[in-house]
This record gives sequence, C-alpha cells and structure tokens, in this order.
Amino acid sequence: MPQKTRWGKGGHTSLLSALKPKREQGVKIKPKRARVIGVFSCKGGVGKTTTVANLGMCLSQYMGDNILAVDANLTSPNLGLHFGEFIPKVTIHDALSGELPIEKVVMKCHGLLAILGSIAYGEEIHLVDLRGHLAPLKSEYKVILIDSAPGIWGEVTAAMKACDEIIIVTNPYIPTIASTLKTFHVVERYKVPVVGVIVNKVRGEPFELPIKDVKKALGWPIISVVPEDSKVREATAAGIPVVRYAPRSSAAKEFKKLGEFLIKRLRKG
Ligand SMILES: Nc1ncnc2c1ncn2[C@@H]1O[C@H](COP(=O)(O)OP(=O)(O)OP(=O)(O)O)[C@@H](O)[C@H]1O
Ligand SMILES: [Mg+2]
Repeated sequence: MPQKTRWGKGGHTSLLSALKPKREQGVKIKPKRARVIGVFSCKGGVGKTTTVANLGMCLSQYMGDNILAVDANLTSPNLGLHFGEFIPKVTIHDALSGELPIEKVVMKCHGLLAILGSIAYGEEIHLVDLRGHLAPLKSEYKVILIDSAPGIWGEVTAAMKACDEIIIVTNPYIPTIASTLKTFHVVERYKVPVVGVIVNKVRGEPFELPIKDVKKALGWPIISVVPEDSKVREATAAGIPVVRYAPRSSAAKEFKKLGEFLIKRLRKG
C-alpha cells in the first residue's frame, strides 16, 4: 500500500516524476522556428510591397503576433508607406548599423508586426548578412515575410539567402515576364524553393499574356491572380492595406484567398 503523505497519493515518487524534465516524460516542447518567405521580382513596381502588406495583414488574422513582415528593400524601402508610416521611429537600418538590437526595431502597423526601413537612409548599402541579422528573430515568430528590392544583385541576393522559400510577383506583360525570368536565374543560383507566382495587375486586356502562357513561360504554379484594381492605389495612398481599406474589393478578395492558401500550406508543414 502506498503511504499517504502530505504530498498526496503516491508520496514523493509522484512529485519527483512530475518534476522530471519534460523530455524524459516523452513530451517534446517544440521551439518556434520561423519559416522565412520572401516576395521577389526583378522588375520594380509589380506589387511586391503591396503583396507583403496585404498578405501580412491576412496571415496576422490567423497567426496574430507570430508573423513578422520585414522590409528588406534597403536602398528604397517603402513597406512603411503602405501602412502610413512615413518616418518610422525605429528601422531595419538602426539594426544593420548596430545601433539597436534587431528585436528592438519591431513596430506594430495596423495590427501587423513589422520591421520597416528608413527612407532617409542615405549611405551606400554594402554587403549585408541579412540572414545573420534575422537569426535572433527566428525563435520569436512562426513566419517572417520579406519584402525585397527589385533587381538581382546586392540586397536582393542578401534577402534571398535569408529565405526558406520564395514567392515571385509578376504582371501579365511580356517585358515584365522577361525580367521575371531573370529572378528565376537567381533562384536557381541560391537553390531556394519557389512557392509559386502571383500575377498582379491583371486587367484582362487582349494584349496581356494569358495566365496559362505566363505559367508556361515561367514554369511554376500560379498561386494567385490579382486584378488591377484602383482600390489598391487608393489604399496605398491612404496608407492602409487594401484588405482593410476596401475588404470587399476584387483585389482584397484575391489577397485573402492567397492568405488562406498559405495558411493551409503552412499547417501542412
Ligand atoms: N492589383 C493592383 N491594382 C492596382 N494598383 C496596384 C495593384 N498592385 C499594386 N498596385 C500599385 O502599384 C504601385 C507599386 O506597387 P508596389 O509598391 O507594391 O510595387 P513593388 O514591386 O514593391 O515596387 P518596387 O520594386 O519599387 O519596390 C503602388 O502604387 C500600388 O498601389
Ligand atoms: Mg516595393
């Protein structure tokens, strides 16, 4: 008969087993390990930042503070503008220059945690180890969404090297598709898995490349087709992502669908 003590039934033995490290009890506590997803395109103005702002807002509805958006467009950052933050109090540049730890430059923008850039930063940007700089944040978040600069050199490759997978944004025009192919050369160089392609600003005009031809030309699945929608430009001017500014607009609906697609994908692991 187990002796009844002030420790309850089972005495010291049950207390001791409760104090055993969780691993010995067969329970593993998984540390957070952020999945870093980058949004890229060699061509400027296709909608990378619009995608990050809206996708970030959609994902934060499901994930709360487990998602972080990062402006990695170091030369010409503009993620802040999409949130009406013209002169952010703290920026990624403060962290890259060593003035502040990276954890201290996170801001809340319309409910989404984000690291913005300083538009005023005038120094030349040299080789940056973005992956190294973001490393301390990986245990704090489940997803880190990166907004990249256009082009294929310097800060773009630094951002790509920090990513676990990437999304490519393009528009349905032949010159843009041709530039997008260049982005895929960088992807091949760094062997980063591609989630798929977003075709943004689609008007459905006869001179646009049909979606099936965009897919054929790029060779990756099209994960979203976002219409050209004046509400997006209006939302950008207002500094509020369109999913919040005009949630019923056609573009907002597509961004929400994209968010749901990514959430399902993340849940599948
Ligand atoms: N679906 C859309 N319909 C209408 N306007 C759009 C759409 N997507 C983006 N825009 C507008 O296009 C402009 C450029 O978008 P954005 O800043 O996201 O491009 P970007 O690829 O990030 O540019 P950059 O390469 O310069 O960083 C913005 O004014 C934005 O409001
Ligand atoms: Mg941009």
